[in-house]
Amino acid sequence: LSAADVSVEEILHKTILVGDSGVGKTSLLVQFDTGTFHPSSFAATVGIGFTNKVLVVDGAKVKLQIWDTAGQERFRSVTHAYYRDAHALFLLYDVTNRKSFDNTRAWLAEINEYAHRDVIIMLLGNKCDSEDRVVNREDGERLGREYKVNFMETSAKTGLNVDVAFTEVARALRDKR
Ligand code: GTP
Ligand code: MG
Repeated sequence: LSAADVSVEEILHKTILVGDSGVGKTSLLVQFDTGTFHPSSFAATVGIGFTNKVLVVDGAKVKLQIWDTAGQERFRSVTHAYYRDAHALFLLYDVTNRKSFDNTRAWLAEINEYAHRDVIIMLLGNKCDSEDRVVNREDGERLGREYKVNFMETSAKTGLNVDVAFTEVARALRDKR
């Protein structure tokens, strides 16, 4: 294999989804991967799994290996082991669940402890389609500024900003190389 054969798309960027149980990590990944949403199927993720996706960013391919983690407390020690190898990390909260927003500070502390110093972090306020919203967009923006991380609101249900969020992270990963 010559150097010329190793194109950009062969570089696998490890990306992980973290955040409280029920915030919509699995739904977000399913929406991104298949463009579908299955509302009736809340089955908390057990363990960890990944999906490979190739994105085209400004005409160049970027390959992501996206790990969907379990948000439930009892699986946290498993999740920690995956932080170390992550190049990028999506931290989700649920805009209809104040607690999940408040808990992002604890997640950020964990990220700080276990993840690589240079990890790219994207904070996502998910379920922005919902009429039961209790967390304002401004709250998310403020938190993003405070921790110097990118922020977006998404809907795994309608697909709003889902491709945009992944593309944004893929672009940041590509630019880092
Ligand atoms: P764990 O696997 O336990 O960590 O949870 P999770 O973060 O993977 O949550 P999951 O994707 O399973 O979604 C939890 C519930 O929220 C499900 O009933 C989803 O249908 C619902 N949900 C997820 N995303 C959205 C969204 O963007 N909008 C709305 N309205 N509901 C959503
Ligand atoms: Mg899940």
